[in-house]
Formats: sequence, structure tokens, C-alpha cells
Amino acid sequence: MPLDIIIGAQWGDEGKGRVVDLLAAQADFVARYNGGDNAGHTVTVGERTFKLHLIPSGIIHPHTVGLIGNGVVINPATLITEMETLAAAGVDVSHHRLRLSFAAHLITPAHRALDQAQESARGQAQIGTTMRGIGPAYTSKISRQGLRLIDMLDRKAFKDALTSHIRAINRQLVALYDAPSLELEPVLADFDCYVETLIPHICDVSAELNTALALGQRVLAEGAQGTLLDIDHGTYPFVTSSNPTAPGALVGLGLGVGNTGRVIGVTKAFQTRVGAGPFPTEVGGDLVLRLRGTGQNPWDEYGTTTGRPRRVGWLDTVLLRYAVRVNGLTELALTKLDILSGLPVIQLCVAYQDQEKKYSELPYGPACLSPFQAIYEHLPGWNQDIREVRRWEDLPAQARSYILRIEELSGIPVRLVSVGPEREQVIELA
Ligand code: IMP
Repeated sequence: MPLDIIIGAQWGDEGKGRVVDLLAAQADFVARYNGGDNAGHTVTVGERTFKLHLIPSGIIHPHTVGLIGNGVVINPATLITEMETLAAAGVDVSHHRLRLSFAAHLITPAHRALDQAQESARGQAQIGTTMRGIGPAYTSKISRQGLRLIDMLDRKAFKDALTSHIRAINRQLVALYDAPSLELEPVLADFDCYVETLIPHICDVSAELNTALALGQRVLAEGAQGTLLDIDHGTYPFVTSSNPTAPGALVGLGLGVGNTGRVIGVTKAFQTRVGAGPFPTEVGGDLVLRLRGTGQNPWDEYGTTTGRPRRVGWLDTVLLRYAVRVNGLTELALTKLDILSGLPVIQLCVAYQDQEKKYSELPYGPACLSPFQAIYEHLPGWNQDIREVRRWEDLPAQARSYILRIEELSGIPVRLVSVGPEREQVIELA
């Protein structure tokens, strides 16, 4: 089947951009289907490295068309900045190559202000959102009060709708959160410019992709965030407000279920999480710096969007099995294996327990993780530097055993292993 879906199998930041970069070489279309500028993908063009939040990273390949689907919430200011940055680096982001679904919703400064006010009001119970207005924008969408890209086509009606929207959120900011209200005129002026820039890019993404698939062209759906941040299947309420899981790709792009081919789950060789919420395999002490890095390198474990240090821990194969189930994963891409080199022992969470019994599956899914304790297997580590390894047989035996055990516990094959941040630092497995 010509539709392949790349999803995060953990709490986001798994290194999906790497895998997209590799597979986009064979794709005709690369499409984002969920989330907004809360996501962050680091992309390298020649000598230059960028952080993209909205534009699908596969657009770096000159033969692809980049699409943003109806499931995405678009902050036009971020999008236009990314378009300008890419254009300055010589990447064609004209409307021939970057197209936006008419049904995608907009994020406004009012959504961002509301996100901040709501987070402050939560006090100790903060979710740790990226403050990008994601939750409020999806709230507007679901409560049928959102602004969509198609609304921009009637400029007078759009201005009226935007005015009502800002006024309505201002009333909430002041009355519910004691927060300052937004000035209307600068927002209207900014959106006037955004409309001008974005209108040529608006299209029917669902129709384009369905036509492409019917013609046998290859489509790569690029997920943002990860399975455990899914609004329905994640560690609720410590989740984002969209569906990063694979079925979200179908809804978020307007595609039928029969199109799907490979569903690739990207997972780090260990576990990370940014923001609040349960994380049973989280580690402390010296190991934190060892897994996270010091923040000197772009690949260290610090949020691409917020710069926050990520929490780190051992790989959780109970949650990985869960990701296989709710996404229908066909294979895994294992990233950052090199980070584990030099550790004498590697722990792998294989089950959970409470006072009474052991569980190989969580009884109520990841939203009810807290009462359970992780049960670990201890595997021998390896000392060799594996960053130059390109073939399975050249990996140390202990690293191969670790991968084989992950395959056994997850029930699906590992098809790709990354051993460093560079494009070529990858081992492809048959
Ligand atoms: P929101 O998506 O900004 O509402 O944030 C909700 C939760 O999702 C917070 O814990 C964020 O840290 C987390 N989150 C959102 N986007 C990402 C991402 O791209 N990578 C990792 N965590 C994310």
C-alpha cells in the first residue's frame, strides 16, 4: 500500500524526523496530520540546521510535496516564519510544494494567552503544556467555535469572526483568570497579512491525497508528539489535545482505512518525557545526565520547542506493547542506541506489579499507571563505541541481544536502528 505512517511510540521526541528524512527519499507526498507548533523537528539543509514546528520535515527532499492536514492546528505566525526560513535556505515552499487543508483550524494569540492563563490557574496540577495554545485551539474546534483556513477566503466575514473570537476569549481571560485582555487591532492587522500569504496554499488535502493514492503515488504521514500523549490513548490528563496515534493520520488527512501500508513506530532505546505526568521507569542520580546529555549538543534531551530538560528513564516495553496495539504498528525504528554504550547494565521494564499481582498489560491503560511499579530485566551493556557501525553483524553481541529482546517483548521487528545524529548513522535491517 502506498500510505506509510510514522508515529511516536512514546511521549514524543523519539527522533521521528530522522525516520521521515530516510523514508521521504521515496515519497511523493509528506503530510502532517496532528498537533501544531508544540512539535519540534530538527532538520538539516546542507550545512544549516533548523527547528521546524509545523512544516513537514520531509519537504527538505526537493521532489516531495508537503501537506498540512485538517487534523493540524496552525499558528500562522509560526508557519510563515518557517516558510521564510526555509525559502532563505533555498527550499521551495511555494504553493506548488506546500499546501494546507482548508479544514485545518487556526491558533490565534487569544488561544496562546488562554493556554498560559489556564496553566497558571492549575497551580500544582499543571500539565506542563508548551504554551502554544494547542488545548484552547482544539477546544474551539470541538466546541464548533474555531476559525478554519477556509474562513480566510471571505476576508470581511473572517475579520468579523476573528473579532468575536478575540472578544469572547478576552472575556474568559479577565473574568475567569484575572489575566490581561488582548488588544484587538494588532491581532486583526497581523491576520490581515497572514491571509495574504496563506490563501494561495489552501487546498483540499484529502482530495489531493486520495487522487495521489489512486495513481499509486507514495504518501508518508508524519505524526507529531507520541502515542502516550494521545488525547484518547495517552496518560490522560497529561496529554496533548490531538490524536498522534496512527488512526489520527486517517482522520487528520481525510483518508480511508484501506490505504495503510507500513505503520512505523519510532522509539528511543530508552524513555524520555517532557512535562508533567506519570513516568514509572524514570531514573535519578548520575544516570540522568548520562542519558539526557548536558545540553551542549542539539541531540541532547532538551525540548526543541520549549528548551526544557527532558525527564529520562529505562525503556518501558509494557507501554511499547500498548503502542503496538493502539497504532497497529508493523515495525519499530529504534533511535539513540549509541547513548547506551558504556553502561554496564541496561534495564528493561517488562511488566508491572501492585501489592497483589504482576501485570504484563496495564489493566486500565497508561492513564492509570501510578499505582503500579515497574518490574525490570537486567541485560548486560557494551563498552564499544557503536557510532560508526552500519551493519547488524558489527554491533556488539550485547547490543544485538538488547534489540532482539525488544523485538520479542514488543512482538514486532526492529527495522531501523540509529547510532548517532547524522543522516548516515543508521543500520537498516532486513
Ligand atoms: P500541549 O500539547 O502544548 O498542550 O502540551 C501537553 C503535553 O504534551 C505537555 O506535557 C507537553 O510537554 C507535551 N508535548 C506537546 N508537544 C510535544 C512534543 O512535540 N514533544 C514532547 N512532548 C510534547
